[in-house]
Amino acid sequence: MRITRRKLRNQVLIAGAGALLVAVNGPQVASAGQRAMTVYERSRPAYKATHGAWETVNLPDLFKVNAVHSVLLSTGKVLLIAGSGNDAKKFAAGTFKTVLWDPATDTYKNIPTPKDLFCGGHAFLPNGNVLIAGGTRKYEVLQDKVERAAGVMTIRNEAPNNEPFTVRKGSLFTSQTNGLKYRATEDVVVRPAHVSGLRVHPSSVELWVEAVGKGTEYAFKNVGRQFSLDGLDVPGLYGLASTISLDKQEYHGLDASYEFDPHAEKYVETGKLTKARWYPSLLSIRGGDVLAVSGLDKYGVIINGDNEVYDREQQKWHAAPELKRFFPTYPALFRLANGKVFYSGSNAGYGPDDEGRTPGIWDLKDNTFKTVPGLRDAGMNETSSSVLLPPAQDQKVMIAGGGSVGDRKGSTARTDVADLDAKSPRYTPGPDLPSAARYVSTVVLPDDSVLISGGSRDYRGRSASDVHEASLYDPASNTLTPAAPPQVGRNYHSEALLLPDGRIMTMGSDPLYGDSSNTTAGTFEQRVEIYSPPYLFHGARPRVAQAPELVRRGTTFEVRTSTRVATARLVRPSAVTHVTDTEQRSVALGVENTSGGARLTLDAREGLTPSGWYMLFVTDAKGTPSVGRWVQVR
Ligand code: CU
Repeated sequence: MRITRRKLRNQVLIAGAGALLVAVNGPQVASAGQRAMTVYERSRPAYKATHGAWETVNLPDLFKVNAVHSVLLSTGKVLLIAGSGNDAKKFAAGTFKTVLWDPATDTYKNIPTPKDLFCGGHAFLPNGNVLIAGGTRKYEVLQDKVERAAGVMTIRNEAPNNEPFTVRKGSLFTSQTNGLKYRATEDVVVRPAHVSGLRVHPSSVELWVEAVGKGTEYAFKNVGRQFSLDGLDVPGLYGLASTISLDKQEYHGLDASYEFDPHAEKYVETGKLTKARWYPSLLSIRGGDVLAVSGLDKYGVIINGDNEVYDREQQKWHAAPELKRFFPTYPALFRLANGKVFYSGSNAGYGPDDEGRTPGIWDLKDNTFKTVPGLRDAGMNETSSSVLLPPAQDQKVMIAGGGSVGDRKGSTARTDVADLDAKSPRYTPGPDLPSAARYVSTVVLPDDSVLISGGSRDYRGRSASDVHEASLYDPASNTLTPAAPPQVGRNYHSEALLLPDGRIMTMGSDPLYGDSSNTTAGTFEQRVEIYSPPYLFHGARPRVAQAPELVRRGTTFEVRTSTRVATARLVRPSAVTHVTDTEQRSVALGVENTSGGARLTLDAREGLTPSGWYMLFVTDAKGTPSVGRWVQVR
């Protein structure tokens, strides 16, 4: 007998609510009939009111972008930064892309992008500018593509009297050991030695050199060798290198730093980073300055704990040796209400598996670090996601999913939650995700739930392992409920963020391969998919008719609203890359209803509500949030 769609649907409905959840949220279904049925089921108002709904958006061709970095600006527009977008050809051509999208009007704009900001870091400044620092100076070269031995050489100059001079790209260095020649790949300035009293301190500068020939005889490891600069006879000037190899060459970091001005809609150059950084994390700290940690340096070596601070008034970076601490790249850092910093153990990039992996609370006042124990699957923090749970007053951080270090197999469905306000903070178990996954996105919603979506079971979506699942986490009950499943897979180089209208935008994804047998190269996912949570299907929304534009911490302010206010939240917008976001947080406001509105009170602690722009959401008795209204906090 042929089963009509209606009959099938009736059978599913008769099977009861529990079975219905399995049917529509279970793994990707096989038959066309079933697929049509689930599409139909997911389009029903009752389904949307419980699980929400997704909608795929194709950006116009001119604005299609490899969205590696996504930032919600205080103008309500979304900044999508690709830079070269993990495309070596675009890098070689100097084609760097940034797109600004206005979700309110669905309009787009290409923004001139001065440097390759691909894989830099970002954080907000109190005035709403986005500080963006680091990026890509040179692409990686995989081992089988390395033709010539290469490495870092140090030029030392012991002569105090000569003027600074430039060693030009293409200059040749000859090995004193065997006469083999190596070529400078960049210009560098050599300074004279510095004399103090009777002592001469040689100057030194590093550069990347490449063997002139292709043989293995050019390679050496961990032995000091000396070189002379051809055609130049400066006594006391020589090159030194200890490793020049045919090994894989990592990405080289950039020292670029810009403030993106959301009103002028352009990048404004600031003082450079003191160290080039690829995969750094930036974190807003006291007074609105910004801390930069970790990253690969200008030669692709992971930075050994040298962190630095951006002085927002001088618009300059300075080294912070007093804060020396090693982290793997793109560590997940959270500013706590007491001014300390929590490192959850998540990192999105690279690093040795035995160093900098322990979660803990970092006190920037004295550079001490207190371990937070209890994390399960502690070897699977790489490519995990971490989120400061709502409301931020609870000072709880969740770590979700993750995988083995590097491209090794293995991923986890674990979520654990640390209560950082506890006397002895430790991780305790949260609910398991529906599937083990790396790169899940975690987005804080204005009704105090958290959307956890996407990711892939294997490294960079290998073996077609994208997870088409989403859940809503409720921090109060520590439980997950199934959300409508996303259609677009999201693995490496993917992000998600809350829009002012209460929807969630997901973008990016950079699979290593394009097929399940891992034989063809993957393509960067340029579709955007937008999630509307259940609260958008519950009827009329409350409105904030009037609110001050500036709110000071520790004060009470009046708002006019369309209904009685159940909760009020200040949600700090996201600045997210590689599922790492040091910004998003939702701060609860004290609520006292008045006639026609409410009096709202903001906590006084800077660590809880760092200066900057926030979206003010109120919810009604049903838990339905208003549209976010932009408010500046000082
Ligand atoms: Cu990356």
